[in-house]
Amino acid sequence: MYVLGIETSCDETAVAIFHSSKGLVHHLLYSQIDMHSEYGGVVPELASRDHIRKLIPLVKQVVQESGLVNADLGGIAYTAGPGLMGALLVGAATARSMAWALQIPAVAVHHMEGHLLVPMLEDNPPQFPFLALLISGGHTLLVHVSAIGQYELLGESLDDAVGEAFDKTAKLLGLGYPGGPKLAALAERGTEKIRFPRPMTDRPGLDFSFSGLKTFAMNTINAAPKTEQDKADIAASFQAAIADTLSIKCRRALKQTGLNRLVVAGGVSANTHIRTALTTMAAGENTEIYFPRAQFCTDNGAMIAYAGCQRLMAGQHEGLSITVRPRWPM
Ligand code: KG4
Ligand code: ZN
Repeated sequence: MYVLGIETSCDETAVAIFHSSKGLVHHLLYSQIDMHSEYGGVVPELASRDHIRKLIPLVKQVVQESGLVNADLGGIAYTAGPGLMGALLVGAATARSMAWALQIPAVAVHHMEGHLLVPMLEDNPPQFPFLALLISGGHTLLVHVSAIGQYELLGESLDDAVGEAFDKTAKLLGLGYPGGPKLAALAERGTEKIRFPRPMTDRPGLDFSFSGLKTFAMNTINAAPKTEQDKADIAASFQAAIADTLSIKCRRALKQTGLNRLVVAGGVSANTHIRTALTTMAAGENTEIYFPRAQFCTDNGAMIAYAGCQRLMAGQHEGLSITVRPRWPM
């Protein structure tokens, strides 16, 4: 079965086709980053309007370049949340209308389940069960994954998500949007001179808190005028604190659950320093670690097509109503 996947939850219009036995057939993405960067962050109304402009041409392109016609599709998966209400509605309405016209099932996918499952598209996919660390712009989650659809939340951020902390700290350092990759690039030129806190690591539990790191960065920046080198040192020290904190909590979760496989996904899993720190930690715990390829760390259509295909094959699909869930626990 060919499944079309549509992702429009934030600032990327992304479309892919996954086949239940042939695997990933095609995927394309149109990023709105240039449009939003002028405003220093995502402007929800502009995001919705741009998804409207780009989505249908992108669907056509993916279907044509795959050598398929619409009638070859067996189902349509779309991100129904969490995300920006208007942006989600564009994807949901398009997906549901196409499914209705083609008389095929449509399935609503949870955006974070997409991130969680996308490492399954790599050559050496993880076996169940595994521990998943999901680190994106909106979420920081530690999840015990027993099977597709069987998720137990072990810990989450009580305030800012990791990606949000990166983006806000990047803004304080005068870097543009999106801040995560820019801060990571600046950190390469710095040294870990400043001792940032490792929030919530000195008490039991698997929850996180990252808003204090942004405040610590702000106080450090405001304490005295900063040279470019000082800024690079702040970036490196901030990034090291995040990597350390994530490693400590993952080690704790591995010990607590007895799991020996760790999946790391979501936009921040593209960060090289964090990947290295988690890989070193995992090796010390005799744990296999799995990451998506770099382009599937951040939002993409492949993860929605894959997750949707699994759900459709399990017999799940929705009625005709177009509903989205801007807030949606996994
Ligand atoms: O998963 P994603 O594309 O969208 C959400 O679901 O939120 O994640 C986007 C987040 C942003 O906060 C972005 O700054 C961050 O991932 N990010 C990074 C890197 N690449 C993307 N953060 C740190 N280092 C990176 N290399
Ligand atoms: Zn995402």
